[in-house]
Amino acid sequence: MLPRSTVILGTGSYAPERVLTNVELAQTVDTSDEWIRTRSGIRERRIAAPDEQTSDMAVQAARRALEDAKLQPSDIDLLVVATVTPDLIMPAAACIIQHKLGLPTNTACFDLNAACSGFVYGLDTACAMVGSGRYRKALVIGVEKLSAVTDWQDRTTCVLFGDGAGAVVIGGSDEAGRGLIGTRLGAYGDGVDLLYIPRGGTAAPATAESIANRDHCFRMKGKEVFKLAVRAMDEAARDILEQHGLRADQISLVIPHQANLRIIEAISQYLELPMERFFVNVDRYGNTSAASIPLALDEARRAGRIAPGDLTLLVAFGAGLTYGSALIRW
Ligand SMILES: CC(C)(COP(=O)(O)OP(=O)(O)OC[C@H]1O[C@@H](n2cnc3c(N)ncnc32)[C@H](O)[C@@H]1OP(=O)(O)O)[C@@H](O)C(=O)NCCC(=O)NCCS
Repeated sequence: MLPRSTVILGTGSYAPERVLTNVELAQTVDTSDEWIRTRSGIRERRIAAPDEQTSDMAVQAARRALEDAKLQPSDIDLLVVATVTPDLIMPAAACIIQHKLGLPTNTACFDLNAACSGFVYGLDTACAMVGSGRYRKALVIGVEKLSAVTDWQDRTTCVLFGDGAGAVVIGGSDEAGRGLIGTRLGAYGDGVDLLYIPRGGTAAPATAESIANRDHCFRMKGKEVFKLAVRAMDEAARDILEQHGLRADQISLVIPHQANLRIIEAISQYLELPMERFFVNVDRYGNTSAASIPLALDEARRAGRIAPGDLTLLVAFGAGLTYGSALIRW
C-alpha cells in the first residue's frame, strides 16, 4: 500500500568553523561593513577549510538529521544531493557522500542542480519517490562550497555568499494531511546569463587564460537578479497558497531562501505577513545557495519555532533562473 503522506522525520545542519566577517572582507576588497549590512543584511559568513569538501559538510549535516530522526544509515535507500559545487564534476557528490556516510549499496544516489532552489526541487523529488512506495526513507541534502567558485576580487559577489549544509530525512506516513502537502516549481530559462559560471563547462572549457581571468567563478547581474527574485518568490508563494485554498496568515513560519534581507522584507510586504513570521539567518551565513533553506529549517526547528500542526512555507529562487515553493504541515 502506498504511504498517504511523506513527512520530515529529522533535520540537521552544519556550518564550517571559520567565520569571515564584513570587516575582514573590507581589508581585501573595496567595500565596508556598513555597505554590506545595509544592502544585504549580511554580517558574516562561514568559509570551509581548504581540505573540507562539499561532501564532508554534507556528511556532518546528514549525520545530525539521522540522529534527529533516530535512524541509522542502513535505513536509507535514497540520497538526493542538491548542489552546484560538487567535489568533482563526475561522479556525483551523492556517491562520495554515500560512501563517507556508510549508506547501503542499494541506495539510489544522485545530484540535482537547481542552484539556490535546489533543496525545494530535491524535497519534491524525494517525496515523490518515497510517496510512490518504491523507496522507504530518503536523505535530502542541500550543500555548497561556494567559496571555491567565488571571485574573491569581485566585490559585487564575494560579499554575498558562504558555505554550509543542511539535510532532512523523509519517510512515508499513513496520517493524511501531514508532511509535504504541495510544491510549485518553475524556471525562467531566459535568465541564464544573470547568474552563471562562464567557463569550465562543455560549451566553454577552461583554458589557462580563462582560469587567470577567474572565469571559472560565478558572475552575477545583482540588480536584475534582485527584481526577478522578488517577483518569482512572491508568485511561487501566492500560487501555492491559492492551489491549496490557504491564506498567507495561516502560515506559521516562512523559511525563505536566505540571499538578501531586503528580498525577504519585500516578500513580507507583498504577502502582508509580518517579518516575525519569517525565519532569517542570512546575517550569520550569507547566501549558501542550496544549503540555505535546510540550514534555516534546521535552526528554526531547534530554536522551537516550529510546533506540531504548524504550516511552514519554503520559498526559493536561484540561478537558472529557478524558483520553487513548498508547503509543509508538521
Ligand atoms: C548585489 C546587491 C546587494 C547590490 O545592491 P544594490 O542596491 O542593487 O546596489 P547596486 O548594484 O545599485 O550598486 C550600487 C553601487 O555600489 C557598488 N558596489 C557593489 N558592490 C559593492 C560592495 N561590495 N561594496 C561597496 N560598493 C559596492 C556598485 O559598484 C555601485 O556603484 P556605482 O553606483 O558607482 O556603479 C543587490 O542587487 C542584490 O542583493 N541582488 C540580488 C543578489 C542575489 O541575491 N543573488 C542570488 C540570488 S539566489
